[in-house]
Amino acid sequence: MIITPRVRGFICLTSHPKGCEQNVVNQINYVKSKGTVEGPKNVLVIGASTGFGLASRITSAFASNAATIGVYFEKPSAEGKPGSPGWYNTAAFEKQAHEAGLYAKSINGDAFSDEIKQKTLDLIKADLGQIDLVIYSLASPRRVHPKTGVVHNSVLKPIGQTFSNKTVDFHTGNVSEVSITPASEEDIENTVAVMGGEDWAMWMEALKAADLLAPGATTVAYSYIGPALTEAVYRKGTIGRAKDHLEATAFTITDSLKDLNGKAYVSVNKALVTQASSAIPVIPLYISLLYKVMKAKGIHEGTIEQIQRLFQERLYTGGEVAVDEKGRIRIDDWEMREDVQAEVATLWEQATTETLPQIGDLNGYKTDFFKLFGFEVAGVDYEQDVNEVVEVPGLV
Ligand code: NAI
Ligand code: NA
Repeated sequence: MIITPRVRGFICLTSHPKGCEQNVVNQINYVKSKGTVEGPKNVLVIGASTGFGLASRITSAFASNAATIGVYFEKPSAEGKPGSPGWYNTAAFEKQAHEAGLYAKSINGDAFSDEIKQKTLDLIKADLGQIDLVIYSLASPRRVHPKTGVVHNSVLKPIGQTFSNKTVDFHTGNVSEVSITPASEEDIENTVAVMGGEDWAMWMEALKAADLLAPGATTVAYSYIGPALTEAVYRKGTIGRAKDHLEATAFTITDSLKDLNGKAYVSVNKALVTQASSAIPVIPLYISLLYKVMKAKGIHEGTIEQIQRLFQERLYTGGEVAVDEKGRIRIDDWEMREDVQAEVATLWEQATTETLPQIGDLNGYKTDFFKLFGFEVAGVDYEQDVNEVVEVPGLV
C-alpha cells in the first residue's frame, strides 16, 4: 500500500516501514562510524523499540557486538493496517543484527506484567544465561499493577498551583498561553506508580532471584531535569515526582546488587522529540528553541548520539563512571550549558506565532516528529507501493 501520515494531535496513526527501516540503518551507521566500545556482552532492553531504548539496543549491538533481547509494546502490522513504528523499527533492527551475526530476539507485551517478566526470564535462561546490562527505558501513560490489578494513569500536571505559560501547537506553529490545573494527591501517586522506579526494581529483583544477572551487572534507567522554564510542569510536576522516585530507586537497586558487585544508574538525558515528549505541554516550544540554539552551536544530538556518548564516554570508559552530586550520569550536559540556557530563555520571551519560524527550529521539531513514524526520511520514496506487513524476525 501507499502509506501517508494520518496525524491526530500529538500522535500519528500510521507509520512507514521503509522510513522506519532507514532510520534504524542510519542509527546503526552512526554508531559504527564512532568505533567499537568495549562494552556489554548480553543486554536486556526494556522499552527497546523507539526513542532512547532503541538507541540503547542499537549501540549495544553495533558498538559492542552484544546479544540483545528487547521488550516492548507495539502494534503488529496487518494487511491494510500499518504496524506502530516500534514494530517496524524492531523488524529492521533484528534483520540488521542477524545479518551481522548477532543474537537478537524480542518480546512484545506489557512489561509491567508478571507474565511478560516470566517470559523474558525464560528466554534469557534458555538462550543467554546471564545479562550484564539492563536498560530500563519505558515511557507509558498507564500501568496495570501486577500485584493489585489497579490501573494507574499518569498525568502531566503541576503540583500546588495552576501553571500558565506559552506553548506551541507544532503542526500549525500557533503559540498560545496554556494553563494547567494542579494535580491531586491521587494524580501524583498514579504518576509515580507508572513512571517511578517500582517496576524497574521488580525487574531487577526477578532477574536476580532467577540468577540471570552476571557478576558486575549494570542497569540504567533514563531521567530528565531541564531548565527553570519547564520546571513547574516537568521536574516539579507529577512526572518530576516519578523521576525523583526513579532516581531514588537506583540506590535501592544498587544495594540489592551488592553481592554481585552490580550497580544501578540513572542517566539524565537531553530533551528530544519522541512519542513520549511530544505529549507534554510547553516542552515542544522549549525543544524547538533548544534545537535552534544547539544546532547553531554545533552541539545538537539525537537519541543515538546521546546514547553512543553515554556508552563511550560514561559507562564504558574503563574507569569510574562520572556522576553528579546526586549520583546521576549526566548526558544533558550540553543542553544545560549556561550559554545554551541563557539563549533559550531570551528566545522564550520573544516567542510568538509570528517570531517562532525565525527564532525557533519548528521545522526541525516537525521533521523529527514525522521521522518517528518513518515519514520525511531522506532516501525513501513515499510514492512507492510498500508491503505494510512486516515480520519481526526475532519475535518470540
Ligand atoms: P518512547 O515513547 O520513544 O519509548 C517508550 C518505549 O516503551 C517503547 O519501546 C514502548 O514500546 C515501550 N513501552 C511503553 N509501554 C510499555 C509497556 N507497557 N510494556 C512494554 N513496553 C512498553 O520514549 P522515550 O522518550 O525514549 O522515553 C524513554 C525514557 O527516557 C523515559 O523514562 C523518559 O522519561 C526518558 N527521557 C526522555 C526524554 C525525552 O525528551 N524524550 C528526555 C530524558 C529522559
Ligand atoms: Na525508549
